[in-house]
Amino acid sequence: MKTIRVKTSRPYDVIIKERFKELGKYVGAISSAKKIAVVTDENVYPLYYDELADELGGFSLYPVIIGSGEKYKSVDSFLKIIDFCAENEFSREDAILALGGGVIGDVAGFAAACYLRGIDLIQCPTTLLSAIDSSVGGKTGVDLKQGKNMLGAFYQPSLTFINTLCINTLNKREIASGTGEGIKYAYISGNIKKEDFLPENRDDFIFKCVELKSEIVSKDERDFGVRKILNLGHTIGHAVEVLSGYSLSHGECVVKGINAIIDLSADFYGFSEEKKQKMKEFLRGFDCKINFSVEDILNQIKADKKRRGDKIDLILLKDVGKPEIVTFSESEITERLYAVIGKSI
Ligand code: GLY
Repeated sequence: MKTIRVKTSRPYDVIIKERFKELGKYVGAISSAKKIAVVTDENVYPLYYDELADELGGFSLYPVIIGSGEKYKSVDSFLKIIDFCAENEFSREDAILALGGGVIGDVAGFAAACYLRGIDLIQCPTTLLSAIDSSVGGKTGVDLKQGKNMLGAFYQPSLTFINTLCINTLNKREIASGTGEGIKYAYISGNIKKEDFLPENRDDFIFKCVELKSEIVSKDERDFGVRKILNLGHTIGHAVEVLSGYSLSHGECVVKGINAIIDLSADFYGFSEEKKQKMKEFLRGFDCKINFSVEDILNQIKADKKRRGDKIDLILLKDVGKPEIVTFSESEITERLYAVIGKSI
């Protein structure tokens, strides 16, 4: 078992463990909940609900099952959880537990942030992607038709409990999606090596990613400064994800976004072709091709909630382990995307 303390304004532990063993003890230590709404999806429920419930015998559990997939990261799902808690007379002492991937964690987290102005939230991520990213750091929310994550709140969980056995049973595509997000950490930290991505090293890999995320989030909980580097590859990645109608996974799109960012960084900093190819080492074997026009990508980037007026921050890479936040105007980004990315699309 490993524990990482996330030192945000309301500090909490991330526990990395095989199985849900002793989850009840950890929940009891951080929450006075009697009732827990276990928000999960139709795929995860039959796989892990019973095992989780066995460890939470001392609490009254209320499963709330929503559909699976990005389209359920919606205001409707959020209201379903809120209504459910209200109908079952959940009090401010009670809690919401998110059992699932990023969609479940984000929508359940947002419900926990809003119901009675905030009740305890426990994150139990079941995918690699949610274990290393969305279950830590308190970004919660839902998508609007105008864009991804447009309605939400920063709301830290009271506990994140990662059962690594859930992750080891994921299908190849889910693992690849989580690995795509993991590559982001490799480029940010410089201390993650190729062998860390091997299946036999997965638990240590999760630990390294969560440790790095926790360090960054503890310095900048509300994403005003250094936390932005966690968006490496995401501005272009999100654009591709939306344009694909979510048929491409988040991690697949992040990888394409990072590849594009290395091309942009090479142009911006003037790297040699050799250095650029060396930097792309972590991306070998991934499909980095973007099958959308520069114009479509630009339109999506312009709608990005992280833009500030005419300005947009992109995370560039001076090298592996050396991310830098660079602010571009809309016209600069247009020019650079056409000049650099246009060639490879
Ligand atoms: N996923 C990026 C962040 O939590 O800031």
